[in-house]
Amino acid sequence: MSLRFKMNLALIITLFIGTTLIGVIIFSSFKSQAENNVLSRAELMLDNASAVRLYMSEHVTPLLARQSKRAYLPQSVPAHAVRRSTAQLEKKFPFLRYNEASINPTNPENKATAWEQEIIRGFIDSPDKAKQTGVTPTGTHLYLSRPVKVNSESCQGCHGDPAAMPLTLRAHYKNSEAFGWKNGQVVAAQFVKIPLSVPLQMAQQSFKPVLGKIILIAVGIAILAALLLNLIVVQRVQRISKTANAISLGSTKFGDFNASGSDEIATLERSFNRMRRSLSNAIDLLEEKTGNYTRM
Ligand code: HEC
Repeated sequence: MSLRFKMNLALIITLFIGTTLIGVIIFSSFKSQAENNVLSRAELMLDNASAVRLYMSEHVTPLLARQSKRAYLPQSVPAHAVRRSTAQLEKKFPFLRYNEASINPTNPENKATAWEQEIIRGFIDSPDKAKQTGVTPTGTHLYLSRPVKVNSESCQGCHGDPAAMPLTLRAHYKNSEAFGWKNGQVVAAQFVKIPLSVPLQMAQQSFKPVLGKIILIAVGIAILAALLLNLIVVQRVQRISKTANAISLGSTKFGDFNASGSDEIATLERSFNRMRRSLSNAIDLLEEKTGNYTRM
């Protein structure tokens, strides 16, 4: 294996490891960027849901109070308006899935699962905690969760004293456990779930063109480094090796190396020049003594 081959091999291995590491770092930063990107959209969805609920509860539900006494009107329920408006957003961003979960829900369908309950308890225990993000226990989805707090007196109309809830609504939600709420109390949590494959795909899309450029730069560096190493090391070592080989076989046609510079190869060339001269003197002496002239 020639020196040039070994050096080029070492160069290729180093560049391959370097490029892979740079690729991994860049990709993981693209991935976390993509995750932040989808999470900020998810956050907007939560803001929208909270705003719709408050507006409904304070301004629309009271207007429908009289009609609600006669018949059950889903339009008067803030949670319905929340569901409808988030459904629109889900249409626009199909990777976002919204749900509200409670430990003691009005609608049993909103009963929090075991891990959702844990998160809600976390919000109840630390009232200052504004949000939580993570990966669902299935390992397939990213989630963003925020506490739902009783933020208006109007909530008590249905979630305070059970007697205050319109009879038509109470008949519809017979199994409701969502009563006795106090102002400021954490009563549920909002969740947005996003398949992990979404930020991954987004990261892959942004990474592809960058990967092309990284490979191009790595190949450019490899060629330049190979040329420079060839010039600075390989060619000079090859010259020394060729000369040393020829001299060892008795040739005298080689002069001194042009040993300019201060690097190790120049030092080697100078030492070699000295060695070659002493060898030549020694042979001259020997020839003079013996009268036997052997060199070419
Ligand atoms: C007109 C009565 C009414 C008012 C006022 C009202 N809600 Fe509700 N709320 C309901 C009903 C009914 C549901 C169940 C809807 C469903 O999912 O079918 C519900 C569901 C919820 C849920 C989902 C979990 C569950 O209990 O099923 C949350 C969270 C919630 N309400 C919070 C609030 C907050 C906060 C307010 C005040 C800003 C409020 N609600 C005002 C009737 C009301």
